[in-house]
Amino acid sequence: MHIGQFALANSLFVAPMAGVTDRPFRQLCKRLGAGYAVSEMVTSRPDLWDSLKTSRRANHAGEPGPIAVQIAGTEAQMMADAALYNIDRGAQIIDINMGCPAKKVCNKWAGSALMQDEALALSIVEAVVAVCTPRKVPVTLKMRTGWCQSHKNALTLARAFENAGVQMVAVHGRTREQGYKGQAEYDTVAAVKAALKIPVVANGDIDSPEKARAVLQATGADALMVGRAAQGRPWIFREIAHFLDTGKHLAPPLVSEVKRLLVEHLQDHYSLYGEFSGVRSARKHIGWYVRELPGGDAFRAQMNTLESSAAQVAAVECFMDGLNEKMDRIPATGWAVSATTNSQVMKELTT
Ligand SMILES: Cc1cc2nc3c(=O)[nH]c(=O)nc-3n(C[C@H](O)[C@H](O)[C@H](O)COP(=O)(O)O)c2cc1C
Repeated sequence: MHIGQFALANSLFVAPMAGVTDRPFRQLCKRLGAGYAVSEMVTSRPDLWDSLKTSRRANHAGEPGPIAVQIAGTEAQMMADAALYNIDRGAQIIDINMGCPAKKVCNKWAGSALMQDEALALSIVEAVVAVCTPRKVPVTLKMRTGWCQSHKNALTLARAFENAGVQMVAVHGRTREQGYKGQAEYDTVAAVKAALKIPVVANGDIDSPEKARAVLQATGADALMVGRAAQGRPWIFREIAHFLDTGKHLAPPLVSEVKRLLVEHLQDHYSLYGEFSGVRSARKHIGWYVRELPGGDAFRAQMNTLESSAAQVAAVECFMDGLNEKMDRIPATGWAVSATTNSQVMKELTT
């Protein structure tokens, strides 16, 4: 699997999730089997580039390459400038966000809303490709199947984007109108894959090794992208990779390994966000790790009241040690998306 000149470790990608896929989380997913991760979106508004949020998002220190940065916006020139800004700060691949019900940028909706205005969407792609190509930076794009059920234009747009020089397209099998409701469909992803020469990535509701294999078979996609199912379960990538390679399931991780990974994740998280913000923003990650573990709900409620990183880590260690007295490995349960936590993250995103 290649994106332009970059060879990827494998074809399992972490989906970009603003507020979630920060550097600590991306690095953890890569250590646990993800072949590629795109950073959270960076706004194309220059007045926000110096904000703490944007500079944290543009922090790639120690991250294995290729470094891919997603940009979001509604104006071609601003998007081209955002691409250049990120290239100057280490981006080796620029990803255009046409997949997320993203925040308003300059009073206009960016992200998947762009799919409603095909001419604008194409002008943005052309402007970004024009600045990236001379710098040998591949441009990729993430989109949905269309604006709404009666306006599924992913195929038309993907063809136009390929002609404009985009080097990989990821398709989330829902329309913008659906938000995260209903089920992702893969027929549109399959149609895009069949029509394009560049790599096509399938995304949406991939939550188990079996589902990964089914989506690969249904779409013929070159790669798979996993978002919510990796929250609190970054080892899902090695589980999927093992199943695709061997047809057999990997045993769930040892409780002791989950404890170690979570504590390492937290330390890395605090070092990026600092004590005050770090403790607060770590809560959602801890909640995701424990959501399916026995006693996880009660622990989450108690953990949310803790105000220091030392107390948070001590509580996590104590919870995991208690669990380890009852079991060696975490239960092999299915994945249940935490609708509440994700809607909180999305609310922060869209307001
Ligand atoms: C909290 C959250 C934040 C997201 N942020 C972005 C984003 O910044 N850019 C983007 O293209 N998609 C974003 N998405 C969409 C995901 O990349 C992905 O397309 C979607 O969650 C479907 O995949 P999944 O079913 O594997 O989660 C976000 C999704 C969630 C849940």
